Amino acid sequence: MNKKGFASDNNSGVHPEIMIALTEANKGHTVAYGDDAYTREARKAIQHHLGERADPYFVFLGTGANVLGIGALSSSFHSVICAETAHIQEDECGAPEKFNGIKLLPVETDDGKIRVEGIEPHVKGIGFEHHSQPRIISITQATELGTVYKPEEIKEIAEYAHQNGIYVHMDGARIANAAASLNVSLREITTDAGVDILSFGGTKNGLMYGEAVVFLNAQAPDEFKFIRKQGMQLASKMRFISAQFLRYLSSDLWYQTAQHANEMARLLAEEAEKVPGIEVTQKVEANGVFARVPRDIIPRLQEEFFFYIWDEPQSVVRWMTSFDTTEQEIYDFVGLIRRLVDKG
Ligand SMILES: Cc1ncc(COP(=O)(O)O)c(C=O)c1O
Repeated sequence: MNKKGFASDNNSGVHPEIMIALTEANKGHTVAYGDDAYTREARKAIQHHLGERADPYFVFLGTGANVLGIGALSSSFHSVICAETAHIQEDECGAPEKFNGIKLLPVETDDGKIRVEGIEPHVKGIGFEHHSQPRIISITQATELGTVYKPEEIKEIAEYAHQNGIYVHMDGARIANAAASLNVSLREITTDAGVDILSFGGTKNGLMYGEAVVFLNAQAPDEFKFIRKQGMQLASKMRFISAQFLRYLSSDLWYQTAQHANEMARLLAEEAEKVPGIEVTQKVEANGVFARVPRDIIPRLQEEFFFYIWDEPQSVVRWMTSFDTTEQEIYDFVGLIRRLVDKG
């Protein structure tokens, strides 16, 4: 069996309930490309959580959701304001720029969140033809640093954005973790907070694959179906994405899995901080722990429990927990940290 580590929630497998849903959907023939009952029901399930006006389009990848969502609301002369740590800025190999031609404007951040004071300096040159035109503010929920925007923080950004004719995009690859952390509904941190378009994640929280671009307060352009097809994200066997979302959202599965992953991160941070020399560097609000760790123990730790170094010069590592992380794994991992620190 592959040993579990703390590298990524993407390293976990598929939640057993989702596997059952996939198997159940694997019967007979159904019309391809989304004209099927699973997709219709999954769209309704998303509307149940995000509001009647929510207009979802299923895609394969988070990067695909971000690229297509941003592309739907922008032209190549537009700019997108985001955190310097945002996945669209750091980890999508320039895909949002390449496919949409837009310019990303990164905002400095210590905790993964951006705020109006950091955004404001980029909102300039509106109507000035020499300047790329600010069109979208993109925020990540939960952030790449494991922190979470409260509903009122999102509202503040959305109000500012809308006053300036700018849309709000949310990269919700870990939206379930954020909602579970805040103990709020998905709607409270999206539609009701003024988010216009959401990349709705599933893969990191137990799906095999599958995300959705969801238009909330903004209307999907008529041509969005062409944009998705041309963007290579129209699944022929879409029923398998839809069946997963349907199962995920029809009960509190999405919440339970996210809450568990969050709990495990909290436990890991709490236990790790008891070891002298370990310093947790970010608030642990979702399923990620960022910690400064003595440099010399990192390779030995990684041999047993794989994880990534986040900031090499600062000796800060990132530990991610998943729906299937167990308490025992946390205690085993922290036990090893303690033994290595004591030896050193
Ligand atoms: C914040 C965030 N957004 C989006 C993604 C989606 O990435 P992918 O294209 O690998 O599904 C990830 C995955 O690591 C992520 O962490």
